[in-house]
Amino acid sequence: MKAALFHGSGKPLEVTEVPTPEPKAGEILVKVAACGVCHTDLHYLDHNVPTFKQPPMILGHEPSGIAAGIGAGVKDFKEGDRVLLPAVLTCGYCYNCRIGKENICDNMVMFGNHVDGAYAEYVIAPAKDTLHLPEEVPLEEGSIIADAISTPYHAVVNRGEVKAGDNVVVFGCGGVGINAVQIAAAVGASVIAVDIVPEKLELAKKFGAQEVINAKETERIDKVVKKMTGGGADVTFEVIGNPATIQAAFACIRKGGRTVVVGYTDKKVELPAAKIMFFEQEIVGSLGCRPVDYPKIIEMVRTGKIKIKELVTGKFPLEKINDAFDLLRSGEPTVLRSIVTP
Ligand code: APR
Repeated sequence: MKAALFHGSGKPLEVTEVPTPEPKAGEILVKVAACGVCHTDLHYLDHNVPTFKQPPMILGHEPSGIAAGIGAGVKDFKEGDRVLLPAVLTCGYCYNCRIGKENICDNMVMFGNHVDGAYAEYVIAPAKDTLHLPEEVPLEEGSIIADAISTPYHAVVNRGEVKAGDNVVVFGCGGVGINAVQIAAAVGASVIAVDIVPEKLELAKKFGAQEVINAKETERIDKVVKKMTGGGADVTFEVIGNPATIQAAFACIRKGGRTVVVGYTDKKVELPAAKIMFFEQEIVGSLGCRPVDYPKIIEMVRTGKIKIKELVTGKFPLEKINDAFDLLRSGEPTVLRSIVTP
C-alpha cells in the first residue's frame, strides 16, 4: 500500500510503498477514506516531540474509511461497512477506564503516535474501538469527528456541563475552539467568541456565536463580558494554551461559574484562590473524549446539529500531504481543517 512515512523531526513525509498490514484476531483492516491534518502532527514534524513508535512510522489520527478486512472473532462489522476510528484507543481495564473516564486512560494508545496511523491507504484498528458511520454522514468529512469535534464535545458537554440558556465565552476560535462555539450553541447556550483574528470572529458568527470580541482591540474582556451577560459567564473555555488567556477566561465567569482549560501550555498560571473558595468558581481541564460519547456526537452530526462539511476547507491526495502541512504552518486564517484522502 501507499503510505506517508515519518522519518523524524525536520524531515518531510515520504510517500512510498509499504506492506499492507493484516488484521489479527479482534482487528479490522480499514481502507482509509480520509484523515484530518492536525496541529498535533506538527509537534512531531517540526518541534522534535518524539513519537512512541520509532520512525519510520505512519502519522495520522483522525481517520474514516471502509472496513476492508475482518479479523477472527470480530462480530458486528463486515467488509464494506463505513467506519470512524477514534484518535485514541483505551485499554478498558485501568482504574480510569473502570470508572468511565476512558479519555484519561493510563494505557492510551494513539494512532499515528504509539501505533501506525492513517496517512496511508490502510490502517489497522481494534474492532472494540471502531464506530459505525451512518450513511447520512459524509465519509471523507466524517473523519474530522475523531478529534476536531470530539475534543470540544467532551469539553462543552462533560467538563463545562453547558446547559441550554447558559452564557458561554470561548477564547480562541481555531480548529478546536470554533467547534466549542458550535457545540455550545447546539446545546442551547448563548455564545460569545473571542479571538484576535477578524476572519476567525466572522467564522465564529457563522458557527453560532451571538457576540464576538476582538481581544486585540479590547483591554478588559472581563468587563465587556460582565456587561453583556449581566454579571459574568456561566462557563468559559480557553482553547488557545496561554496563561494570560486562561486568566482572562477565569476573570469572565460569574459567581459559581466554571472555566474549562482545553488549550495546552507547559507554563504555570496564577489564579485568585480567594475566588475559587469564596465565589465557588471552578477551573477544570479537558482532554480528548470518552468512547461512550461518540454515538451521541455522530448522531448530532447526522442530524445537522454539528456541521462538518463547512469545516473542511481543503482536501489533499496522499502525494500532496506535505503541502497540507505547509498550509497548516502558514497560519492562513480561513483554513479550518484539511483532510488527506489516500
Ligand atoms: N486571544 C484570543 N485569541 C487568541 C489569542 C489571544 N491572546 N492568541 C491566539 N488566539 C487565537 C488564534 O487566532 C487562533 O484562532 O486562538 C486560536 C488558536 O487556534 P489554533 O492555532 O487553530 O489551535 P487549535 O488547533 O484550535 O488548538 C488550540 O487546543 O487542543 C488544544 O493543543 C491544542 O493548545 C491547543 C489548543
